[in-house]
Amino acid sequence: MENPNLRANNSSPGDKEYENSIRPQSVEDFSGQPQLVENLKIFVKAANQRGEALDHILFHGPPGLGKTTLSRIVANELGVNIKETSGPVIEKPGDLAGILIGLEARDVLFIDEIHRLSTVVEEYLYAAMEDYRLDIMIDSGPAARSVQIGLKPFTLVGATTRSGLLTTPLLSRFGIKFRLDYYPADVLQRIILRSSDLLQVKTTSDAAMEIARRSRGTPRIANGLLRRMRDFAQVLGKGIVDLGIAEHGLRALNVDANGLDEMDNRILSTLIDKFKGGPTGINNIATAVGEEAGTIEEVYEPFLIQEGYIVRTPRGREATEKAYKHLDRSGWKGNMNSLF
Ligand SMILES: Nc1ncnc2c1ncn2[C@@H]1O[C@H](COP(=O)(O)OP(=O)(O)O)[C@@H](O)[C@H]1O
Ligand SMILES: [Mg+2]
Repeated sequence: MENPNLRANNSSPGDKEYENSIRPQSVEDFSGQPQLVENLKIFVKAANQRGEALDHILFHGPPGLGKTTLSRIVANELGVNIKETSGPVIEKPGDLAGILIGLEARDVLFIDEIHRLSTVVEEYLYAAMEDYRLDIMIDSGPAARSVQIGLKPFTLVGATTRSGLLTTPLLSRFGIKFRLDYYPADVLQRIILRSSDLLQVKTTSDAAMEIARRSRGTPRIANGLLRRMRDFAQVLGKGIVDLGIAEHGLRALNVDANGLDEMDNRILSTLIDKFKGGPTGINNIATAVGEEAGTIEEVYEPFLIQEGYIVRTPRGREATEKAYKHLDRSGWKGNMNSLF
């Protein structure tokens, strides 16, 4: 059941153009994350009033929740240019120096997947972030000497799905850290209706709600599903995404009734079938499903815990009654933490 529409980090051809065509450009168009948005507006306004560079910002959280979108909005609201790159692309300190020297005052440098920066590059970033300064080593051996280059004040915006992999020195240089949360269904519904308008496809509000409920709390998944529903509506219906089309389309795409993806279901079935519902440690689960423990902890598990499929107990993870029901398994024996 490998279905690209069910993944938050998909990238088949055309995905980028599609995403960019419906990506909110301003805070007004950005739905949800109310507390984050409130704070962000204040920090941006304050920096604008003082004419200073905004403090460095880290956006962290699971894929598809709006980290890239917010980074571009920050640059828009500051009225500056944004230079976009990503951790693995900056291979050498020289690559980083080239980018930093090219920035104008108050510009935004966006580094996606910042947890994948190499150690040497990261070390050069420290002084750049702290003092807007680059210390470059010229030559090697006895002739080696360091040359300082002053930079214009800039804002580094980092994004990561794996904040647990960031080093303490890097983390501490971000004055502002925002964690993105999963979106409630009514906010996703609003996002779907907005995207429908931009795509000029009519979607009824009950259909939008049904798609929203099954989007794993994730705007990228909601928009991806809408794109496919538009096809079903065009070929099988009258071009309108109504509840009938949505229900048919979601079934045809094997979208899970509660919006869980393939890995979510694998984690739950492993926990239930292999470990008798738990409790078991994250490393056991990781080995059994063939994924890094850290990725499970930061990318998959938060949604499963939030939605009440898994609980953390002092002795490890346990499947809940909801997980048993979802997978249609019997034999739930209660959860350990109900004993505490
Ligand atoms: N709060 C939001 N309101 C409207 N659309 C959103 C929101 N957050 C994300 N999106 C949409 O979801 C998609 C994924 O967002 P993106 O910023 O690329 O996620 P991330 O960088 O966290 O993986 C984009 O198409 C974007 O337009
Ligand atoms: Mg992104």
